[in-house]
Amino acid sequence: MVQINAVIDLTVTEAIAVITADSPPVNALGHAVREGLLAAVKQAVADPQVKGIVLGCKGRTFFAGADITEFGKPLKAPGLTEVIEAYEASPKPVVAAIFGTALGGGLEIALGCHFRVASADARVGLPEVKLGILPGAGGTQRLPRLIGPERAVAAIVAGAPMPAKAALADGIIDEIVAEPIAGAVAFVKRVLAEGLPLVKVRDREDKIATARENPAAFEAAAKAATKKFAGVEAPAACVESVRNSFTLPFDEGMEAERKLFMKLVVGDQSRAQRHIFFSEREAAKVPDMPAGVKPAVIKKAVVIGGGTMGGGIAMCFANAGVPVTIVETSEEFLAKGLERIKKTYAVSVERGALAQAAMDKRFALIAGTTDWNVIGDTDIVIEAVFEELGLKKEIFGKLDKLAKPGTLLASNTSTLDVDAIAQSTSRPGDVVGMHFFSPANVMKLLEIVRSKHSSMESIATAVAAGKLLGKIPVVVGNCDGFVGNRMLARRSTECERLLLEGATPQDVDAVVLKFGFPMGPYAMGDLAGLDVGWRIRQARGTVAPVTDALCEAGRFGQKTGRGYYIYENGSRVPVPDPEVLKLAEQKAEAAGVKRRNISEQEIFERMFYPMINEAARILEEGIAVRASDIDVVWAYGYGWPVWQGGPCFYADLVGAKAIVAALEHYAELTGDAGLKPAKLLKELAASGGKFGDIGVAQKAAA
Ligand code: CAA
Repeated sequence: MVQINAVIDLTVTEAIAVITADSPPVNALGHAVREGLLAAVKQAVADPQVKGIVLGCKGRTFFAGADITEFGKPLKAPGLTEVIEAYEASPKPVVAAIFGTALGGGLEIALGCHFRVASADARVGLPEVKLGILPGAGGTQRLPRLIGPERAVAAIVAGAPMPAKAALADGIIDEIVAEPIAGAVAFVKRVLAEGLPLVKVRDREDKIATARENPAAFEAAAKAATKKFAGVEAPAACVESVRNSFTLPFDEGMEAERKLFMKLVVGDQSRAQRHIFFSEREAAKVPDMPAGVKPAVIKKAVVIGGGTMGGGIAMCFANAGVPVTIVETSEEFLAKGLERIKKTYAVSVERGALAQAAMDKRFALIAGTTDWNVIGDTDIVIEAVFEELGLKKEIFGKLDKLAKPGTLLASNTSTLDVDAIAQSTSRPGDVVGMHFFSPANVMKLLEIVRSKHSSMESIATAVAAGKLLGKIPVVVGNCDGFVGNRMLARRSTECERLLLEGATPQDVDAVVLKFGFPMGPYAMGDLAGLDVGWRIRQARGTVAPVTDALCEAGRFGQKTGRGYYIYENGSRVPVPDPEVLKLAEQKAEAAGVKRRNISEQEIFERMFYPMINEAARILEEGIAVRASDIDVVWAYGYGWPVWQGGPCFYADLVGAKAIVAALEHYAELTGDAGLKPAKLLKELAASGGKFGDIGVAQKAAA
């Protein structure tokens, strides 16, 4: 074996050179890897003993892509394209030995090889669009030549990895093998023995010939793929570049791809998306977690309450292969809950997202009972009952008596005091909040609320459970509404005020949609049900004049066909309602509020700046330990567009100074002291500091 450099080695056995990378954790194609790969292929090509070449990796995966940490910094030669071209130009056959995930640059280097084999559980894809860029090392030029521009544009714009079996069917890989390196060696020996031609993907014309003649099918595929991405730069650039694969010669297509890549990689949208990528991985790290704390193993789960949330949470366990029992108060509620779960799975089967066999397997993991003794034999209990502190305390008292020592006792509360819930047990250290977002089986975010009593083991177990369920766990402190709902409450207050002051639901929703949210706040309220907030306000003795009046009139949103909007005949499309405008006018008059025209700019600022202000307070109080955690909460729990980076990232783009000035103005205008700029925000404005730097010290220390 020859060690080419610290991360690449080369072994020649029976005339086959095996080039292997070993660069943990994911064999990203950073500078040392690229340099070693180039030197290795040159050496293998020059060695007369070598007849064929295999490219593989050690560790947990084939190359998972370019090293994202190098983006935005000056490129250190050799670039990935140069490396790929060296493999492609080899006069000796080169076979890529794929396992784990061949993503981005990882798949691109494999596309530069003459052949590709993969293990059955491997996944391949070009996910660059999710980082706000496009495949920048030939992916947009080679993939269309392999699978046709129509399929390529769909795959590249979606950025979703595809399983080996599908990649084989599409012709992206040539064979599925039991063991990647051995399989690739056998494959290359066969190529040599049979004298198979070394066709370079760049030279293939067959799959792009039709589009060259008539691009209609490509244009239709491109339109369908980008439908959801108005205003987002990367998907449009992906389309442009894939189009170049059949309108330009290969080398010109490559040059254009590079230019598009360079433009995107320095843009705010890509910076935002990379920020979310790294922040998401950072969020589950707890700075004060001592080394060596081990999470408990979760083999069985219990969910208290089979309503919409409880059912969704039970589905999460079943989807992860963990047996789960729902505890309900009556057989009737239990049957209803299980039926709802079955229906939800059935919809996925109908849509083709889930095979019937998989549904049956998952549903079989979900049991139901009215017998609380089941709690004595579980590793985790998640309580998901009505949002009422007294009830929750009572339930936790009961759990305390029944659960075996060490069972994690979690509450899916969205606002309530987790300290108080913990205190209703004799083991407050075992209690945490696990706040799922609706629909629980779909939404990625999981706020893990640590109370002042939560033990480090409990927090570690909750984080591990979240990951097991495929969620993005963010550890937060205990306060009213935690991170997400506490900030949302500020937006809701402004929504109500804006109605009184002269804006309509459609005016405000349009501004929020334009920013990139999938739904505006009023349409969202109608979907969730206006009665939810109404009940909370009644319990707290607060008022929202317009929304309360809508609720008093039985207008709860989509479920009653009317809310802020009208929904005709079960339609989900919101239609503006002049009655709501009239109602707002009446309420404004009664409250002595003078109505006026409200500009788009003002709506924008009042939707977003009060939330940013609350984020600053959340950081001041240590409820979130990093500004980036808040961004993750909003990106994965509330639909903040990832290309806008989250509230704190966005605030840094605008600058604290401008936000402080605007907040001071709105505090004066509304007389709401809550809108006065937070201390931290003022400090950032005075010092020119950034949210992005908050928590970085903890990151380094962790
Ligand atoms: N560059 C740098 N670091 C990376 C990385 C990359 N491409 N991919 C993952 N990492 C890091 C993560 O940040 C994480 O670091 P910490 O442990 O310090 O938090 C570590 O590797 C492990 O990652 P995960 O926690 O995500 O591990 P996982 O096993 O859950 O997932 C994965 C592995 C599927 C490869 C996932 O990490 C992933 O999707 N990575 C990104 C893949 C990607 O987008 N590739 C395209 C890159 S862009 C490109 O290639 C451009 C081009 O055209 C040339």
